Amino acid sequence: RPERDALIERATALLKAQNAVLVAHYYVDGVLQDLALATGGCVSDSLEMARFGRDHAAQTLVVAGVRFMGETAKILSPEKRVLMPDLDATCSLDLGCEADDFAAFCDAHPDRQVVVYANTSAAVKARADWMVTSSCALEIVAYLHAQGKKILWAPDRHLGRYIQEQTGADMLCWNGACIVHDEFKGLELELLREQHPGALVLVHPESPRSVVEQADVVGSTSALIKAVVEGQAPAYIVATDNGILHRMRQLAPGKLLIEAPTAGNSATCKSCAHCPWMAMNGLANLVECLEQGQPQIQVEEGIRAKAQGCITRMLDFVA
Ligand code: 13P
Ligand code: SF4
Repeated sequence: RPERDALIERATALLKAQNAVLVAHYYVDGVLQDLALATGGCVSDSLEMARFGRDHAAQTLVVAGVRFMGETAKILSPEKRVLMPDLDATCSLDLGCEADDFAAFCDAHPDRQVVVYANTSAAVKARADWMVTSSCALEIVAYLHAQGKKILWAPDRHLGRYIQEQTGADMLCWNGACIVHDEFKGLELELLREQHPGALVLVHPESPRSVVEQADVVGSTSALIKAVVEGQAPAYIVATDNGILHRMRQLAPGKLLIEAPTAGNSATCKSCAHCPWMAMNGLANLVECLEQGQPQIQVEEGIRAKAQGCITRMLDFVA
């Protein structure tokens, strides 16, 4: 505790001294989420992180999340310094969609609008017409579908299938998955619901169909938090990374929050639904990156300029 408090104090002082702002995702350690809010930064979903970083006057953004979030911040604000506690914090969706393979996929289907999820590298975004996050993917694909456009989608297969079913769009999907959400289990969820008949089921759309089908609310991390805060039910089963429970508990203290079942969290492991890359962000490496001015996100200018187009298109659309 004293060590933790000293690190919080040090990080707060460094952020202030360097006119830096902390931009955190809901899945990172609660102590970082609290620090972001206490120092004038933000804790949010990936869409809001992008918007906040772009619009904030600070010349240094410290992104506590995974690499694609830092890259998005840098792509939108190349003049700003973008620090991350650990550049190895990646994402299975990003890892599973290598830029050259993706370019070949796009080349083979030139008649399709290329729509990529935020959870991709800058090089993949450089090939895309649109970037989307889970909070606006449905809306944007529905808009393109209404214009008669056919879509090439990457990389999350579950989110792609969900959007396809909801919109009826013609979508050709890459076969990627999130290693965290892919683990939620439909059958075990049915059993859990029987034990909690009054509970609402909140599901992030990176989850498999058998889980999404049982959802009362499907949405981005921000949408799931809103559902808990505004919901009338006393209990909620949450199918997303359990890092989100920290903010949910703060905003809805009287409500019962239950983690949705994964293959491993039955009897032996109670916290399997946690992203190992989000977990690489801590107080110690946050302080270190502020002290040393690294690691910094760099995106090669040719790629950055191309990738900016698809992100700006999304931000203009949701504005
Ligand atoms: P959100 O955009 O909903 O915050 O999701 C980001 C993410 O990585 C989910 O696993
Ligand atoms: Fe990627 Fe899944 Fe981690 Fe989100 S939770 S950053 S989608 S691996």
